[in-house]
Amino acid sequence: MMPAQKKIKKVTTHVLSAMKMQGEKIAMLTAYDYSMARILDEAGIDVILVGDSASNVMAGYETTLPITLNEMIYHAASVVRAVKRALVVVDLPFGTYQGNSMEALASSIRIMKETGAHAVKLEGGSEVVESVERILSAGIPVMGHLGLTPQSIHKFGTYVVRATEEDEAEKLLQDAFLLEETGVFSLVLEKIPANLAGRVASEVKIPVIGIGAGPKVDGQVLVLHDMLGITQEFSPRFLRRYHNLYQEIKGSVQSYIQDVKTLDFPNEKEQY
Ligand code: KIV
Repeated sequence: MMPAQKKIKKVTTHVLSAMKMQGEKIAMLTAYDYSMARILDEAGIDVILVGDSASNVMAGYETTLPITLNEMIYHAASVVRAVKRALVVVDLPFGTYQGNSMEALASSIRIMKETGAHAVKLEGGSEVVESVERILSAGIPVMGHLGLTPQSIHKFGTYVVRATEEDEAEKLLQDAFLLEETGVFSLVLEKIPANLAGRVASEVKIPVIGIGAGPKVDGQVLVLHDMLGITQEFSPRFLRRYHNLYQEIKGSVQSYIQDVKTLDFPNEKEQY
């Protein structure tokens, strides 16, 4: 029997909710450019997140805070041009939705109009619910993000696992219910205890995608550059590395340098 994943021509928010109902896990990865997005889409990924982690892995900033809306739009438009099947979700960058729901709507409209993406994602619970409502009122699907929310790193102080204490776990649970009730189509839970994530996933109807949140959720997301081993310095326990591309690319570049310097490249067949 063909896996459901191969049969789906285009992944929509409705497809994701059907996948949850049928118990089929959702696979999501980040991408920030055309070439990578094309590979991911052809490989059959369900959701591509144009994450504000682009701030770290593409631009080299220490946090996700500096990336701008214009920069996110550039990355997202490049990704969308490559994608035929996956659902493309774009992070609203820091400072474009908090505290002002009209600005949140304007930012989301720019993303949808200028990139052709299918949904936006934002971080936070009750604090951002007015913004979520306003964005949804324009017919734009919203994905929530709770637990470790990197845009609040200066409030947390560290990237340690969140919601290990009862009061924070309870707030997370209530935020998840509130976001579901408000109408988000899905929720990312980052770096929280597996049992808490499992409880959220079993108590809400919307698909819950985990990163460092254990296996009892409806899908998983990783940052592409981390799982391919392009980034080196970041190795949390939850990260499975499928490759060591940093070393492979470095090795290839060193071979190229050597070939150029020794006149091995180009050879007779590599010229006109
Ligand atoms: O920006 C990002 O890559 C994310 C994922 C870690 C979920 O938000």
